[in-house]
Parts: sequence; structure tokens; C-alpha cells
Amino acid sequence: RSSTTISILGKEYPTDDYTNIPASILDRLSPTPQLPYTKDHPLALLREQLEASIGPHYTAIHATSPVVTTELNFEDLGIAANHPGRSPTDTYYVNRTTCLRTHTSAHEVETFRNKNERWLLTADVYRRDEIDASHYPIFHQVEGAAIFAHQDYAPGGKVEKECEAMEAKLAKANFEIEDVVGLSEAGGYQSHHDPREAALAVRHLKATLNGLVFDLFADRHAFETAQKGGSASDPLRVRWIPAFFPFTSPSYEVEVWFRGKWLEILGCGVVQQRTLDKAGVPDRLGWAFGLGLERIAMVLYSIPDIRLFWTQDPRFLGQFASSSSNEVSAAGGQAKSGAAKPKLLTFKPYSKYPPCYKDVSFWLPQDRAFHENDLFEIVRDRVGDLVEDVVKIDDFVHPKTKKQSLCYRINYRSMDRSLENEEVNQLHSDVLSRLVEQLSIEIR
Ligand code: PHE
Repeated sequence: RSSTTISILGKEYPTDDYTNIPASILDRLSPTPQLPYTKDHPLALLREQLEASIGPHYTAIHATSPVVTTELNFEDLGIAANHPGRSPTDTYYVNRTTCLRTHTSAHEVETFRNKNERWLLTADVYRRDEIDASHYPIFHQVEGAAIFAHQDYAPGGKVEKECEAMEAKLAKANFEIEDVVGLSEAGGYQSHHDPREAALAVRHLKATLNGLVFDLFADRHAFETAQKGGSASDPLRVRWIPAFFPFTSPSYEVEVWFRGKWLEILGCGVVQQRTLDKAGVPDRLGWAFGLGLERIAMVLYSIPDIRLFWTQDPRFLGQFASSSSNEVSAAGGQAKSGAAKPKLLTFKPYSKYPPCYKDVSFWLPQDRAFHENDLFEIVRDRVGDLVEDVVKIDDFVHPKTKKQSLCYRINYRSMDRSLENEEVNQLHSDVLSRLVEQLSIEIR
């Protein structure tokens, strides 16, 4: 890697003051997403389940390279230049005009342009973020969308018929849907849309996604409710709450009541016409959603640490193999004939290797800004998957000098083996010197 260009997946890109992709991320890049297509991998099981649930009208699309223009990832979607997600503290930049996609919405324009009208696209996405059991700089999203011609929105037409069919099916299910959101809170219909057509698009969006959420969670919810001695008639509860995305209006977040908490599942809304105009299909109207696979898989399969998705340990993948004994059928132990319904898989944690905590206390420089994502990135780059979490445990300002002091606790632990003391000491001392060098901090 020379100082003026960076080579990614066989292509050279000029670097500039925005370039911030560490070797630890570069090493992981590939021309197509890997884990959601790995046999017996929980992310693959979940992707397959989503594709099966939404049905054959929707084309399943593999994403291509994660390297995208900032135009596709941000501008085309109306994400303003000053949006926090665009900051180099949050996004991996190849250079000022090229980045690693931060969400699958980056592919909306080209996917619509390629004449796809109903589709599900799966991709690896990249965000600089904190370090703990549920955050990893690479994760996976599925984007789904459906757009229709105006004639399909005619009264009694295709869209309305499909809504009726989906709603009739859900009406028979043990399902409680709460619409706690007013239209204006959700951003309102777009001014150039016929409100009747936009309302029908929202109705189609709701029926489709309610069906998807029901398919994902209902059996698991019923099984766990019964196990806890609850009533089999406890419905699965879903609620629609207002949201804001620059690329949809109205916009919603869907949450499901699961294990005593509202769990956020996805973001969605009616696609901004700007996106469809850009894609060369200005005469279409429809909706889109995006969801994160890891978070849902962690909850559904009881996977306690996001790093496990990356482990090669057969004790992990082996549990998701089709012959696994970790399955309980939704009926409560009775094997069902045929494999039409996915079984309920539950990950059985194997014993963890011991952790090793090390603290780092330091004074912040007074002449430059500090962002903790930069610290996390330095830790990740040196320590890789041997770091479990990094937590701020102290923060104070010296009363006289006004200097600010921070203390972070770095928890070293491998998923796959026992770490030697010496190895951890070496890692930690390397981290310290990199922090001093790159962030101009002063170790206390
Ligand atoms: N891209 C959004 C995210 O990553 C999710 C989303 C997709 C919202 C499509 C609306 C429509 O949070």
C-alpha cells in the first residue's frame, strides 16, 4: 500500500485526508457477502428464512463489492453533508468520494435501475462503532423493496388485492398489531404523491412486514411463552412507531414484544420519489425496509456475542447444522413431517475462556478533539477479535489545570483459546503506544 493509493479488491483508489480503513478491515473485504451464504451459518439460516417468508415475487440479490461512492451511500438518499453518520469518526472512507457502504440502502438506486421491482438484497455493511458484545465493525443487512405502477394502485387493483390477501391471513393469526403512529409523526405523505396511492403503499408495506415479523417470531414466542407456563393464547405483539429516514416518507420502525422488551426489528417507509427518479423509474411508487441480520439472529438463536458469527469453532457452526440436536419443533418437541417450517434453534453456549481486564487512563490533549471511536478503532486494529469490550469507567476534569482525564477498561478474551499473560501484556502495551502516537494523549 503506497502512501497515495490504496488497493481494494484489485482496484487502486487515491487516498486523501478522509482515508481511514485499517488493515484489519481491508483483510476482511470480499467481492460478495460471505457469512450469509456460508452453509449452516446462522446468518444464512436467517436470510433463507426471510427469503422464504416474503415469497417468490421478490428477487433475492447478492450484493457486490462493499466499496461504493458517497453519492450512492449518502447523496442519492438525501443524507445531508452534515449528517453525523457521514463523519469519518463513524464511516470507513476509501477517500472523500468513496466509502464502505454503511447500509444496504446504498444499493436502492442501482437495484431499481436494473428493473427490479420487488427484491431482497443481502450485504455486509461497515460502521466505526463501540466495542461490546453487540457491536462489530462489519455486520449484515437485508434491504427489501416493492414498487408498483400507478395503475396497480387503482381501486380493486393488484396492490389492494394483495393487501386483502395478506391481511386476511394475518387476521387468522394470533397476532396483535399496534399502530401507535400518526401520519404526520411519520413524516406525512410526499407532496407529489396521490394520498390515496401513498396510503395504499403504506398498507402494502404494513401487511408485508407484519407477515415477515410474524413468520420470524411467532413460533419462538409461542414456544417460550408455553415454557414459562404462560397461555398459548398470548398473542405476538408488534408495534409501528414513527421514525425518520431522509430516503423515505412516511417512515416507521417496527418493534416486536419479545422476552419482556420491545425489540427494534427494522426501519422502513415509502421510498422518496427522488430515489426512484434517480433510478430512472419515476413512474413507480412503493416502499423499502432495511434490517440487521446479526441483532435478530442473536435474539432468535440466543447467541451471546457478535464475534461468534466470525468464529471457525465447530462448536459454534456445528450447532446450526441441519442435523443439529438443538432443535425443538414449534409444536413443543414433536417432530413435524417435512421441513416446511424452520425449527427453533437455540445456541448452547460452550464454556468461555477466561477474560483479562486492563485499564488505560490518560489526559486528553487540549488542542484537538477526541472521539472515542478513534480509540476503539486503534484497539480493534491491533487486537482484532481478541477484544471483547471496551468500557469507559472514569471521566473527570482536573479542577486546577482543567485537563480532562479518561479511563477505559479493555477486556481481552478469545472466543477460541486461552490467552497467555505475556500475549495480553504485549497487545496492551502496543495499544498504549499507538494511542499516544495517533491520538496525542498522555498516559497517566
Ligand atoms: N438504511 C436504514 C438503516 O440502516 C434502514 C432503512 C432502509 C430505512 C430502507 C428505511 C428504508 O438504518
